[in-house]
Amino acid sequence: MTATIIDGKQIAKQKREALAKEVEQLKLEGLTPKLVVILVGDSPASLSYIKGKRKAAEEIGIGFKLEHFSGDYSEKELLQLINSYNNNSEFHGILVQLPLPKHISEKAVIEEISPLKDVDGFHPLNVGKMMIGQESFLPCTPAGIVEMIKSVGAEIKGKHVVVVGRSNIVGKPVGQLLLNEDATVTYCHSKTANLSEFTKVADILIAAVGRADFIKADDIKNGAVVIDVGVNRLDNGKLCGDVEFEKAKEVASFITPVPGGVGPMTITMLAHNTVQSAKNQLK
Ligand code: GUN
Repeated sequence: MTATIIDGKQIAKQKREALAKEVEQLKLEGLTPKLVVILVGDSPASLSYIKGKRKAAEEIGIGFKLEHFSGDYSEKELLQLINSYNNNSEFHGILVQLPLPKHISEKAVIEEISPLKDVDGFHPLNVGKMMIGQESFLPCTPAGIVEMIKSVGAEIKGKHVVVVGRSNIVGKPVGQLLLNEDATVTYCHSKTANLSEFTKVADILIAAVGRADFIKADDIKNGAVVIDVGVNRLDNGKLCGDVEFEKAKEVASFITPVPGGVGPMTITMLAHNTVQSAKNQLK
């Protein structure tokens, strides 16, 4: 079997066009969705992610502001800044780019962001709501993955999903969202014994490990849907995922490439959450 490639760029493009129309309408009603992104330090990876976020926001018509500080910006200053945006009704989304420098508590920062403007979906209140199936901001990568699986018409209900990786940002929430869609979910991670015994029986395999070519084609079930969340930079500068793509695409029914798979959808879901947050203001 040769897999159909799930074209994240194309799916994202369609969604961005629909969002742009919604934003156009909101602007007619006098409301411009706005996002502030806060960066502490100069990590090249963070700067590159933020560039993508700005591009998507501009494409859709969402206002975008970057607050960029040097690596010695204090936690106290950061918490005060977040608080000022919590109280600024012009801004609907607040995103603090992670990772933060070691002297700043990620927990304190995430908890300072108003759950009503938490377009990352990282605040414990939003995480809890997602867990019990209440309406909330959903974390962008997991929400994008669910949309991608649905967009190719693959069944989720009753299927066995195996998630490899248990981060708070991707692994745990993507399993939860797919459980909410009536999948049967198994979580695997770095301490899982006999990992391939699990991956080999996955109808839907989510690889979110962060290690190049970690998942081998031999460990994938024939006809599986394979979602590769990994973004790994090789010595030659090229990006690759967690799955050995060339061989895996001969086994899977659907597979996401890296780059051009999950990444564009993650950014699009951030725009979706920002528009949703603005619309909530009208309620
Ligand atoms: N760093 C890497 N991914 C993310 C993300 O989804 N949100 C934030 N805030 N920082 C990140």
